[in-house]
Amino acid sequence: MAETVTLTIDGRQIHAAQGEILLWVALDNDIYIPHLCADREEEHPTASCRLCFVEVEGRPAPVPACTLPVTEGLVVKTRSPQVDGLVAAGFELIMSNHRLDCKNCSANGNCELQRIAKTRKLRLKPKNLPVLDKNLPVDDSATTFAYDPNKCVLCGQCIRACRRSGNGTLGFARRGYLRVVTTFGDMPLGESNCTECGACVKVCPVGALAKK
Ligand code: FES
Repeated sequence: MAETVTLTIDGRQIHAAQGEILLWVALDNDIYIPHLCADREEEHPTASCRLCFVEVEGRPAPVPACTLPVTEGLVVKTRSPQVDGLVAAGFELIMSNHRLDCKNCSANGNCELQRIAKTRKLRLKPKNLPVLDKNLPVDDSATTFAYDPNKCVLCGQCIRACRRSGNGTLGFARRGYLRVVTTFGDMPLGESNCTECGACVKVCPVGALAKK
């Protein structure tokens, strides 16, 4: 059995299993840290969304909470000017090419972006960056769900869920601004090997994958 360690998050003493990932320890103790790409079911974090930064005593710079195993005596702050600045910048970048249409979005009220904006007092509409809408077609070809790439935040949750479900239909293609979640050969979902198991829809933290 894993050894239990005591750590401090935002001044609160918390007990956790040695080696457990800080992000999950914090969330399990009702301490919210913004996150989009972290996945409890995966052993190796991709740490790609860059939203879960925390400050750790003794470390010169903030670290992503999804990569940090807890150890005895760890002292963590989830808020500091530096952390807040990094999270705000990362969030602004994500929102700079996210189609904002909350009123008509199936995830409205249950969207991780809205939660981050609310808890960190950030604007959903970027203040400093122009919004570049990719204006990509919505894939409406599956029977039970639709995929809107203009709302996708490229967290990779759907790709991992699809792989775990055994289909492996979804993957990333292209780079930089053109990066997109798609099927092999960019086939419409309805013509791909997708079995419509719904695993991807369940894990999408925004409204990019939505039930019909
Ligand atoms: S949740 Fe840690 S970098 Fe995305």
